[in-house]
Amino acid sequence: MKVIHTIAELGKYQRPAFVPTMGNLHEGHIALVKQAKALGDVTVASIFVNRLQFLPHEDFGTYPRTLEADCKKLEAAGCDVVFAPSEAELYPEPQGYKVQPPAELADILEGHFRPGFFTGVCTVVLKLFNIVQPGVAVFGAKDYQQQMVIRRMVAQMALPIEIVTGATLRADDGLALSSRNGYLSPAERAEAVQLSRTLKGMIAALKMGERNIAAIEQHAMKTLADRHWQPDYLSVRRRHDLQPPQAGDFGADKLVVLGAAKLGTTRLIDNIEV
Ligand code: PAF
Repeated sequence: MKVIHTIAELGKYQRPAFVPTMGNLHEGHIALVKQAKALGDVTVASIFVNRLQFLPHEDFGTYPRTLEADCKKLEAAGCDVVFAPSEAELYPEPQGYKVQPPAELADILEGHFRPGFFTGVCTVVLKLFNIVQPGVAVFGAKDYQQQMVIRRMVAQMALPIEIVTGATLRADDGLALSSRNGYLSPAERAEAVQLSRTLKGMIAALKMGERNIAAIEQHAMKTLADRHWQPDYLSVRRRHDLQPPQAGDFGADKLVVLGAAKLGTTRLIDNIEV
């Protein structure tokens, strides 16, 4: 496996399968890399903690940088190339040109609570796409809204890249794997499964015929708040545009429940398709 730090060195790989990451890799990332391996002759993973997608009070400074351990995991997974640029390599001058995704998709849910987040994501992903020139790129379903925003960017900008979504990997208790799970204390880790349990409770209410979405969402928010979480949102949305469901939207395979909540100082997100 080659570890590359400069854009110039990447040039020779033709249309690889690509997995962009911010490092601190876990089994969920490794599953995406294995999926990518089946989709192209060469697999490239990038590791770059993207300052543009963090708000000033967020964890950009403390986000774990674990390049050596990440490279070992990627090598064991059969990754061919790791692209790990420095900030100076990727942003040699302040990034004045940015990709502004449409508000109706990017200013809701995550984008509402993290203004500018999807601009930062789209900007770095477009830049990475231009550098890596992948034929296919794999994103995790845990970041449900992110993979939708990227899919739409690729479609509207007519980028010749296939976007593939990899399933969320979960711990035995149901907690979605995430780099930020590493911030949780043992007691918080035991509690963290309540996020996916609450989403499952919302799905159970829908399946029982409840159609008052506001009531389902409020009950879910209260469930977590009563357990000392600080929920940002617990929402039932349409899968195709992440808007609140209308009367005709309750058929099979149309909805997704999404949630984000803080446990102590750690913000977790999760989603489950209904
Ligand atoms: O999902 C992530 O890890 C990041 O948002 C991404 C796609 C690598 C862009 O920085």
